[in-house]
Amino acid sequence: PCSAHPRSKDRRYRSSHRLALHYIVPCMNSYGMCFIDNFLGSRIGNRILHEVQDLHRAGSMQDGKLASRGLDNTRSIRGDQIVWVEGKEPGCENIGYLLSRMDKLVTYADGKLGKHKVRGRLNKAMVACYPGNGAGYVKHVDNPNSDGRCITCIYYLNKNWNAKEHGGVLRIFPEGKSYVADIKPLFDRLLFFWSDRRNPHEVQPSYATRYAITVWYFDSEERAEAKRRFKDQTESSQQQQGSSSS
Ligand code: OGA
Ligand code: OGA
Ligand code: MN
Repeated sequence: PCSAHPRSKDRRYRSSHRLALHYIVPCMNSYGMCFIDNFLGSRIGNRILHEVQDLHRAGSMQDGKLASRGLDNTRSIRGDQIVWVEGKEPGCENIGYLLSRMDKLVTYADGKLGKHKVRGRLNKAMVACYPGNGAGYVKHVDNPNSDGRCITCIYYLNKNWNAKEHGGVLRIFPEGKSYVADIKPLFDRLLFFWSDRRNPHEVQPSYATRYAITVWYFDSEERAEAKRRFKDQTESSQQQQGSSSS
């Protein structure tokens, strides 16, 4: 029910401002997710795809890691390869442009997204590739423990994606709802969803190369609190180290 096509004849969404206020805000507040098709158009979408393919070919991508380390079965949990990109690196200019367009939408929507005050984001985007060997990412929550991230924003880059043949569907299991949302990773599609426990999700096994670029936006209050917690932890572990070595 929740998608917009800014480049279709639907004139309601012709500007980022209108798209944010008339589509993203109501959709997020009702469903906790929304997606936009033909977000940048095929010309810019192709440039971004080429940058991502070049990163992949150059061998820049490493196995995705888990926040809780020490598991040696990581690859059975998430089978993607990733590289973090700021968008200012040489050869990443179009990715940088994508990030600026995402930022613009979030800035226009800010103040109307539930109780959140959105301030800033992880300064690097995660460029991910599922290589097509049947790897996916098991059901998880991006931010289960209030680390400050409130919105996950994903841009997909996959042309001629046939989910029956290639799998790779993102399935979201909205908390407390009886339905699931199946999102295909289609070329030039932009997706938003709440990063916290409201949206457990999985990437189903992927049988073709599957590219996506993910950005996480922060809730200002939760982020500040998480930083305080982190600082306290660091200080107390330094104190412990200090006392045990004396
Ligand atoms: C668009 C567009 C202009 C803007 O989303 O189709 O070109 O305000 N918007 O960014
Ligand atoms: C993730 C993730 C979803 C996707 O990397 O945390 O859930 O569709 N990705 O790529
Ligand atoms: Mn995720």
